[in-house]
Amino acid sequence: ESYDMGGHDTYMHKEIHEQVDAVDRVLRGRIDDRFSTVHLGGLNLDARAARGVRRVKILGCGSAYHTGLIGAQLIEELARIPADAEPASEFRYRNPVVDPDTLYIAVSQSGETYDTLAAVQELKRKGARVLGVVNVVGSAIARETDGGVYVHAGPEVCVVSTKCFTNTAVAFALLALHLGRIRDLSVADGKRIIAGLRKLPEQIAEVLRGEEEIKALAAEYANAKSMMFVGRVRGYPVAREASLKLKEVSYVHAEAYPASELKHGPLALIEPEVPTVAVLPDDDLLEKNRATLEEIKARSGRILAVAHRKQEKADHTIVVPRNEVELDPILMGIPLQLLAYHTALALGRDIDKPRNLAKSVTVE
Ligand code: AGP
Repeated sequence: ESYDMGGHDTYMHKEIHEQVDAVDRVLRGRIDDRFSTVHLGGLNLDARAARGVRRVKILGCGSAYHTGLIGAQLIEELARIPADAEPASEFRYRNPVVDPDTLYIAVSQSGETYDTLAAVQELKRKGARVLGVVNVVGSAIARETDGGVYVHAGPEVCVVSTKCFTNTAVAFALLALHLGRIRDLSVADGKRIIAGLRKLPEQIAEVLRGEEEIKALAAEYANAKSMMFVGRVRGYPVAREASLKLKEVSYVHAEAYPASELKHGPLALIEPEVPTVAVLPDDDLLEKNRATLEEIKARSGRILAVAHRKQEKADHTIVVPRNEVELDPILMGIPLQLLAYHTALALGRDIDKPRNLAKSVTVE
């Protein structure tokens, strides 16, 4: 991949469409069918050390933090290690307890974000084991960490992260599968996840073929006073990232909440001018999520659902192909990148260089 625009009007559009190849690249050469696992050459974490990990703490900023939320869920689900993610910018200022049995993971596209780098340096000083999930090879965070997984998204020029977000989520799936197969994930489940990973590039292509429909939806919602993004568990990090992306590139105000939190306050905001984007994977929480749609409808809220089948309660549904439930969040974020892009286009924004933002924040 190069810096050439390749016929696209913006880097954001180009990078959204590069995701088919980018995901193929992060998988390439890493899958081990013999043992239903993956090889991650740069991890520097042998099986004994991996078995000794009692917790995983993921640190990053912005979109990188949101991939960390996906990563933490994947690690808990596949490796059954308690895991959580925290903004690196908060972690570094709060004198955290650094535990020798915790595996810390710094996540960053650029590998140069100062808050994340400072968190890594503080952790290293205290003797912690820190891995990196990084895109830019040889960057500061890649150099300071004990090992890690390169994301191989290729150069990302647009300030707003798209292909790197997706590839980082896939890299976390690989790491979770690797840790899982060293611990209690069965061969059958390893095979199931590998089959799901292999399906991703073609499924991403399928989502991208629906761009015209998403463009029409963006035109319909572009004049919203504000947008609400909701999801439960697997859908929640997708909602968080989609809300950030819309804000960054279109300047439309957006909020993201766990769907279950709506009734604890944000429902007060719902009205026809404040539509809701609901992320509804077809998992064990689908019925709960449908009840949330009813709550929104009862307040005259408009709903755009991202789901695996048409949702009767929603005004519109973007249907995405089904993968394994653990991997569904990776695909469900992609139509919402297109929604942010086409909203920004409809509003005439400077898509590749949104106001007030820099690609990487290398200062305090
Ligand atoms: C991406 O859409 C954002 N511009 C921003 O949140 C970014 O993800 C964040 O600043 C962290 O950057 P990094 O991944 O290079 O560390």
